[in-house]
Amino acid sequence: MSIRPLVILPDSRLRLVSEPVGVVITEIRGLVSDMLETMYDAPGVGLAAIQIGVPKRVVTIDTSKDENARQPQIFLDPEVVWSSEEKRVYDEGCLSIPEYYGEVERPERVRVRFRDLDDKEQEIEADGLLATCIQHEIDHLNGILFIDHLSKLKRDRVTKKFAKAAKRGEAA
Ligand code: NI
Repeated sequence: MSIRPLVILPDSRLRLVSEPVGVVITEIRGLVSDMLETMYDAPGVGLAAIQIGVPKRVVTIDTSKDENARQPQIFLDPEVVWSSEEKRVYDEGCLSIPEYYGEVERPERVRVRFRDLDDKEQEIEADGLLATCIQHEIDHLNGILFIDHLSKLKRDRVTKKFAKAAKRGEAA
C-alpha cells in the first residue's frame, strides 16, 4: 500500500471518462488499497481512481469519519439505477479542489448497482452523506466535478484561481 499524489484542478485528467474495470484482477486490489490509504491520509470521505491518475471506474468511500472504526466501501463500475425526486443540498468539497466548498443539490436517495472485489454484483440504496458522496464520485468517473453543478460565475472564479496557482507551481 502506498499514498499516491492527488491529481489537482486544473489537471486535464480530471476530465477523462474512466474505463470499466472489467474482470477483477490483482491489479485492482492494489489500486483499491492505495486509494484507501490516500483517502484516509488526506483525509477525505470519498475518492475516485482518476484522482490518483488511474482512469478506471473504481470508487472508495468511508463516511464514518471515525479513524478508530473505519467502514470502507468499495464500488467497481458503479452506476445509479434509481434516484429520488426529493433533493438534498450539501456543502461539498473535493480532494482535487483543496479547501474549496460549494453547495450542490442532488437527489436525496439513490440506488446504486456495482461490483465488489469478489466480482459479485451488488445493489445498495443510499441516503444522506453516502448518497451525496457516491453521486459526487460517480461524476468523477464521467469527468464531471462538483464545481460543474455551481453557477458559471463561481465555477469560473475557482477554475481561474487554481489555474493561476498551478502556473506559479503552488497550491491555490
Ligand atoms: Ni471529488
